Amino acid sequence: MSLAPPRTANSQLRCINCGAICEKPSANFRCASCGDLLEVAYPDVQSMAKESTKALWLSRRTSLNPLDQSGVWRFRELLPALDPAHVVTLREGNTPLYAMPQCARTAGIENLFAKHQGMNPTASFKDTGMTTAASVAHSGGYRWVACASTGNTSASMAAYAARGGMRSLVLIPEGKISWSKLSQSLDYGAITCQLKTDFDGCVRVLDEVVQRMPVYLLNSVNPYRLEGQKTAAIEILEQLNWQVPDHMIVPGGNLANSSALGKAFLEMKSLGLISSLPKISIIQAEGANPLVLTMRENGGRELIGVQAETLATAIRIGHPASWKKAVRVLQATGGTVEQVSEAEMALAKAEIGAEGIGCEPASAVTFAGLKKFVTSGFVKKGDLVVLVLTGHLLKDPDFTLNFHRGDLLADDKEAKMLAPARRAPIVLDATVDAVVKTLEKFEHP
Ligand code: F0G
Repeated sequence: MSLAPPRTANSQLRCINCGAICEKPSANFRCASCGDLLEVAYPDVQSMAKESTKALWLSRRTSLNPLDQSGVWRFRELLPALDPAHVVTLREGNTPLYAMPQCARTAGIENLFAKHQGMNPTASFKDTGMTTAASVAHSGGYRWVACASTGNTSASMAAYAARGGMRSLVLIPEGKISWSKLSQSLDYGAITCQLKTDFDGCVRVLDEVVQRMPVYLLNSVNPYRLEGQKTAAIEILEQLNWQVPDHMIVPGGNLANSSALGKAFLEMKSLGLISSLPKISIIQAEGANPLVLTMRENGGRELIGVQAETLATAIRIGHPASWKKAVRVLQATGGTVEQVSEAEMALAKAEIGAEGIGCEPASAVTFAGLKKFVTSGFVKKGDLVVLVLTGHLLKDPDFTLNFHRGDLLADDKEAKMLAPARRAPIVLDATVDAVVKTLEKFEHP
């Protein structure tokens, strides 16, 4: 059986390398001529009337139409057109942009915000892209969708498949994702396979499965994922009253999210909705740093893959699929790459948590990276900076508990710097005295 999603009325799929227009995408979303990735293009969208478009998008926030209530579909003028009957939505998007005054002080800057994509229905940014790609799968009549994942894509895909009445197949690396994410895909009814390999190995297996079976691939090589994910950038601008930030800082794993946000800013600039671009920079963990190596060693010409290892399991990826798209975003916006140690990431996560926000380890690399950018002078004191927090604190409770108990990175050479940020739980006798004494100890240390 061969099914292909219909071409959406207002958009086409175009190869990012040779520019060929793809009428019928292959099951693994590769260009038939050169094998590179595809992107969604909107040939008929010309410039947009600035104020009326911005007002229309904002006004939809008070509408009762399910499409308007989605923080993705309310920007549908810049998305593939679909029959609303096929739209699978959990009212994703519309996530908060939080001021981060304490973290700003720690980093030594004046204007810091965090776009908390962990406040989505399945608690990660993946939902914004899943609503678009799962809807395209639904409109194509697919019964099965599938992904390889480090945990968040699978949680999101399983939920959207369930909402859309589709079955879902998840391939995850055995023992290498947080049980919190695993539990989500189980509860949402996915067929969940733990493969004895890493994320990159899961991708290789799935790539062949989708070519053999009528299963719609929902990994981020699916260009419709990026269309939904790009709406976070539009929301950020809306939330800043259309002031363009100087810097956006994004974690890098498979490198789709940074690519999607960059695409959004570039499209909005070409449509005349903004007149400048933020510098979009990408942070990776030192042990999972293929983009950092690629940029530093050959200026982004050829991917240098790695055997990835980091406690931030979400970004434990050695061969990112969307690396070329990400390199283009870095180059088009003047952003850069940075890597952070496990201890720097853990400390940054605790500092974000202490601000009452909370995120998962992979998201915290953004703040750790920002500190390095301030030290190097790339980010200036007066710059407006937005960190993208990609997943919720509760996505990886083990990491957080182990950190605060002192079990995580206990032997790390940088562990000393973590001690002040640790807040271990305190076991007491069940007496008033014991609790009062503890309070006093913290009041007058
Ligand atoms: N942050 C979190 C919390 C993630 O789950 C991911 C990716 C990233 C950052 C990196 O985003 O891949 O677009 O560069 N998680 C994928 C998954 C790979 O399967 O859940 P990216």
